[in-house]
Amino acid sequence: MFRTNTCGELRISDVNKQVTLSGWVQRSRKMGGMTFIDLRDRYGITQLVFNEEVDAELCEKANKLGREFVIQVVGIVNERFNKNANIPTGDIEIIVSELHVLNAAVTPPFTIEDNTDGGDDIRMKYRYLDLRRNAVRSNLELRHQMVMEVRKYLDGLGFLEVETPILIGSTPEGARDFVVPSRMNPGQFYALPQSPQLFKQLLMVSGFDRYFQIAKCFRDEDLRADRQPEFTQIDCEMSFVEQEDVITIFEGMAKHLFKTIRGIEINEPFARMSWHDAMKTYGSDKPDIRFGMQFVELMDVLKGHGFSVFDDAAFIGGICAEGAATYTRKQLDALTDFVKRPQIGAKGLVYARIEADGTVKSSVDKFYSQETLQQMKEAFGAKPGDLILILSGDDAMKTRKQLCELRLEMGNQLGLRDKNTFACLWVVDFPLFEWDEESKRFMAMHHPFTSPKPEDVHLLDSDTGAVRANAYDMVINGVEVGGGSIRIHDSALQNKMFELMGFTPEKAQEQFGFLMDAFKFGAPPHGGLAYGLDRWVSLFAGLDSIRDCMAFPKNNSGRDVMIDAPAPLELSQLEELNLKINIKE
Ligand code: AMO
Repeated sequence: MFRTNTCGELRISDVNKQVTLSGWVQRSRKMGGMTFIDLRDRYGITQLVFNEEVDAELCEKANKLGREFVIQVVGIVNERFNKNANIPTGDIEIIVSELHVLNAAVTPPFTIEDNTDGGDDIRMKYRYLDLRRNAVRSNLELRHQMVMEVRKYLDGLGFLEVETPILIGSTPEGARDFVVPSRMNPGQFYALPQSPQLFKQLLMVSGFDRYFQIAKCFRDEDLRADRQPEFTQIDCEMSFVEQEDVITIFEGMAKHLFKTIRGIEINEPFARMSWHDAMKTYGSDKPDIRFGMQFVELMDVLKGHGFSVFDDAAFIGGICAEGAATYTRKQLDALTDFVKRPQIGAKGLVYARIEADGTVKSSVDKFYSQETLQQMKEAFGAKPGDLILILSGDDAMKTRKQLCELRLEMGNQLGLRDKNTFACLWVVDFPLFEWDEESKRFMAMHHPFTSPKPEDVHLLDSDTGAVRANAYDMVINGVEVGGGSIRIHDSALQNKMFELMGFTPEKAQEQFGFLMDAFKFGAPPHGGLAYGLDRWVSLFAGLDSIRDCMAFPKNNSGRDVMIDAPAPLELSQLEELNLKINIKE
């Protein structure tokens, strides 16, 4: 038997027991004739003691152990003289009588400690060592707990877990597909699922009624802190439901997770906001509502006073940062640089401080009378000590997005985005389509299977862009943690969607004929949602990137630097697949 107990298990009540432990050498200290070793496993750390006077040979053997050696010891549990209140096993130690080296270890490339000396790259290359660290391991433990709670919750409501295939055809969800060549079908390719969308809808046609899956999804898109090419969805679908039914079930799941995982009881319904209001007030379809600083539009107040930047603008808007009038010139210049970064792209920043006597001092004082500036102050409801920050631009949507970035930055700077405060929001009433300038056609904002609101169906041809969708996203602290919709279950309406998106009937039939056919065999009204598991876990763990809650994530270039993938194929493999590489210089 390798062990009788784990390294996190023994307590004062175990004193005098003989135990066998196995684990990794975390660190070793020699003090006089005594050697102390911290033995670590997934469950914790237990102190081992070797006494030169009692057994010189054994102590000598212990002194030769290096960091990360895998060992097994037999010994007696003893009450510690110097107790360590920081660890659960801190009251005891093991007086070792037998030591076996199970596996020697070379010196690891970084310290396996909470505060490691290893940089990002080296830790990614040796991810299996990084996973030995508490911080990373505990994220995976949290992930496991969340998955278990999700299964418990959904099983309790009669959802059936069904696996759908990974080798499929293209699913149009807005990103590029990862593709896999088929050896048995020369010149043909599978695509990896961007989500199980089509299959879960087909399961509804099959009568499964309530489906879920903890599903791997693959999207070839540019990576960010909250995006990985391979990620996991809690994917669900239900039959005979309306938007409100789906929202109730998944708000319930969110509350269940908050309660069981974070111990937070949320009793009231989550806030709701229309997409239109979210864009107008926060410049984002995933607003962080932990703090205010809502946009105020200033076209009426500030246009037409001879300041050409504003006079030529299609949008002038600002935010009011409470108590930030103390910002120095240097801080304001840094904010200006922030909004002018290419990623944000604003041309400049106008600011106005509200002085103690209520007067307004702005960076554009020479263009505006105090009276106009007071009108502006009123528009914000600003008070002495507040700072107003204003952006303008010739593209209203773009400028709103820039102002959104500035608002989030101010939220960070003023400490208004506490990781342990959670503000949940349903964003509803999304437009069904968005216009794509590049291809000069409408694209589905959520996906092409989302249904229009019945009261907007008559606008499909006459005012396509104004049609609202039966779609909803859940947003927590500015992170889109999930999204879904009520689907189209009628083949004529589904065909109409494809037509509006510029598909010819032949192309629609070729790509989605199976779905349209299925709808002809009695499709129930249905809808669903998918939560992004990685985003949920990182939100609960307070992480800055979803990478840290994945066992083996990709880096920012989409590479797995540990196994060195992607990589070229052998010529023989390419030939077998009938592929030729043609990289253009
Ligand atoms: P959607 O595309 O909105 O909807 O995805 C659902 C949720 O998945 C998460 N997510 C991601 N997480 C990490 N990395 C990514 N690259 C990534 N992309 C998306 C987000 C998002 O809210 N089939 C529909 C769902 C439905 O309609 O039922 C879908 O996939 O948290």
